[in-house]
Amino acid sequence: MEIVLGIESSCDETAAALVRADRTVLAQRIASQDDAHRPYGGVVPEIAARAHAERLTPLIDATLAEAGISLTEVDAIAATAGPGLIGGVMVGLVTAKALAMASDKPLLAINHLEGHALSPRLADPDLDFPYLLLLVSGGHCQLLLVEGAGKYRRLATTIDDALGEAFDKSAKLLGLGYPGGPAVERLAGEGDPQAVPLPRPLMGAKEPHFSFAGLKSAVLRAKESGEHTDADIAASFQQAAIDCLIDRTRHAIGTVRPVNALVVAGGVAANKAIRAALEELASEHDLCFVAPPLALCTDNAAMIAWAGIERLTLGQSDPLDFVARPRWPLDPDAAPARGAGVKA
Ligand code: KG4
Ligand code: ZN
Repeated sequence: MEIVLGIESSCDETAAALVRADRTVLAQRIASQDDAHRPYGGVVPEIAARAHAERLTPLIDATLAEAGISLTEVDAIAATAGPGLIGGVMVGLVTAKALAMASDKPLLAINHLEGHALSPRLADPDLDFPYLLLLVSGGHCQLLLVEGAGKYRRLATTIDDALGEAFDKSAKLLGLGYPGGPAVERLAGEGDPQAVPLPRPLMGAKEPHFSFAGLKSAVLRAKESGEHTDADIAASFQQAAIDCLIDRTRHAIGTVRPVNALVVAGGVAANKAIRAALEELASEHDLCFVAPPLALCTDNAAMIAWAGIERLTLGQSDPLDFVARPRWPLDPDAAPARGAGVKA
């Protein structure tokens, strides 16, 4: 049975994992760079690239040692080849190319978003295509119809900020530091979600997209007014974000052909309140709800190895001269959303 080595280095986690085709994660290691970036309140690309370069090779060695196997027993090498911070992506991809060349094994250049999109299938063997995917991370907020590995139709995207970005910026405004999402969720647990009136951008709109920039600005105004506790602001922000997510996902369910499940993935999918609200929405529509375990939601290499297994199973691999891609949409045919890098 195939074993794939996965490598992830597109943002601030250096990660390696060995996954077998029967969905067994033989070993996985993640080296977080949170401490290196914390003083700057966000990820510094140059620091990230250097940290990946220092940590990746020992991490791969440790992962192989933990699984008790050698490179010769691995069937393919999969690495994130984009989208992401290009310095880090290049470190991971070049390492994967060298290992593939040295061991004469196929290379799989994985789209990081595909890693997130297929991660629920690693966690749940019963999850079949097609499914409706809400992909919510630090860089993306999209609804996708997933028809198969490599077959994605984008139904909606954000016209401004990603939801993870809104969580991170709100955290910064509230002095919660970096990384922001988990800190906002913790503080929200102590506040009243109805206390601060905040906008719900694009809620009820005919167009399918998301928008979070106005919500973030409203958090800034609420903080500056001095009228609210930070916990109430955090709780109200999280509630407004949930209301937007649910409204937009409900809209998508109404427009898409029958699907097997509603699935959430990406770093923000680690948020328990968001998971609970989506689960309720799914049951309203008699849909299965699938959310990967928390460790598979935030960036990790098991999801990259798994995407590699899915593509290997389809007989696919990539040439050793595959070029890293800073931008790489899952659905290249999707019409540009208003505002998303498009000049009016
Ligand atoms: O998928 P991911 O690990 O990296 C990207 O590919 O972007 O997502 C990271 C994002 C960050 O914005 C982080 O603040 C957010 O996911 N996040 C959360 C939570 N945990 C991570 N947002 C809300 N609640 C959480 N518990
Ligand atoms: Zn990610």
